[in-house]
Amino acid sequence: MSLFPDNPSQNNIIELKGISQSYDGGKNWIIQDLDFLIEDIPQQGQFVVILGMSGCGKSTILRYIAGLQNPTKGTVKIKGKTVDESQRVSMVFQQYSSLPWMTVLDNVGLALRYQGVRKAERDARAMEIIHLVGLDGHQNKYAQYPTLSGGQLQRVAIARSLLANPEILLMDEPFGALDIRTRLQMQDLLTSIWHKFQSTIIFVTHDIAEAVYLADDIYIMKAQPSNFVEHIDVDLPLVRDRMTKRNSQYTELVHLVEDKMMSVAEMSSS
Ligand SMILES: Nc1ncnc2c1ncn2[C@@H]1O[C@H](COP(=O)(O)OP(=O)(O)O)[C@@H](O)[C@H]1O
Ligand SMILES: [Mg+2]
Repeated sequence: MSLFPDNPSQNNIIELKGISQSYDGGKNWIIQDLDFLIEDIPQQGQFVVILGMSGCGKSTILRYIAGLQNPTKGTVKIKGKTVDESQRVSMVFQQYSSLPWMTVLDNVGLALRYQGVRKAERDARAMEIIHLVGLDGHQNKYAQYPTLSGGQLQRVAIARSLLANPEILLMDEPFGALDIRTRLQMQDLLTSIWHKFQSTIIFVTHDIAEAVYLADDIYIMKAQPSNFVEHIDVDLPLVRDRMTKRNSQYTELVHLVEDKMMSVAEMSSS
C-alpha cells in the first residue's frame, strides 16, 4: 500500500513511481515498488523530511531526484519531465561538497558558468545569494576548511544549490557535522530561504527534533526492501522560531515520531 495516493490531476514537482533497485542483476531487491510523489504547492513550496535507519535508502532516493543514479525499474520525473543532464538538481551533503580550489564566489556561480552566463552577471547574481546566506566579505576566500568554518562551507553549498535551482533543494544530512549553535542557526537560515523562494526542500536527517522543527511532512522509510511506511503531517504554524520548540504540540509530535521510528526499526529487525 502506497503512502502516496496517485491523483492524476495533481501537479507533482517530484514523482518517483514504481521504483525498484537491484545491484546484482535482480537476485536481491534493495528497493521494491516504491513511490514518492511530492505535490507542487505554488507560492508556498514545502519542506519534506525523510527519516529512517542507516542503509534504508534515503541517499539513494535523493540521488535519483538529482539525476546521479537511475533506478533498475520505475520512473523519475521532475516537474513532469524525465531527469536529464540539462536540468540537474544539485544536492547539499554532510561532507563539504564545495570545490576547494575555487573561491566562494566562483563556487556559488558554478551552475551559471555551465549555462554560459558571462562573468559579470554570474558574479552579480552570486553576490546576491552570498549576501542572503550571510557570507558577505568571504566571497574571495577559497571554499576550504579551515579558511571557512563548517557552517560557512555549508552556507556556500546552500548558496550554490539555490543559484542552480531555487525550486528544489536536496539536502542529505547537511547539518550532521555542525556544532549545536551553528546547527540551530542553519535551521533558521533554511526556513527563511524556504519562505523567500517557496522552494520544495527534501531534507534527510537523523535528528527527530530537527525533523519536526523544519518539516511540513515527515516520511519514515524502512529497509529490506526499502519503502516509505509512515507519514506524519506536522501540524505546526508554517512560520516557526525557537519558541515553537517550547510548544506542547511540538513536544508531542517529537514523541510521536520517536515512537513511530522505534516501531519501524523493530519491524525491520524482526
Ligand atoms: N553501489 C551499490 N552496490 C550495492 N549496494 C548498494 C550500493 N549503493 C547503495 N547500496 C545499498 O543500498 C542501501 C541503501 O543505501 P543508502 O541509500 O545509502 O542508505 P541511507 O542513505 O538510508 O543510509 C544500503 O543497504 C546500501 O548498502
Ligand atoms: Mg545516506
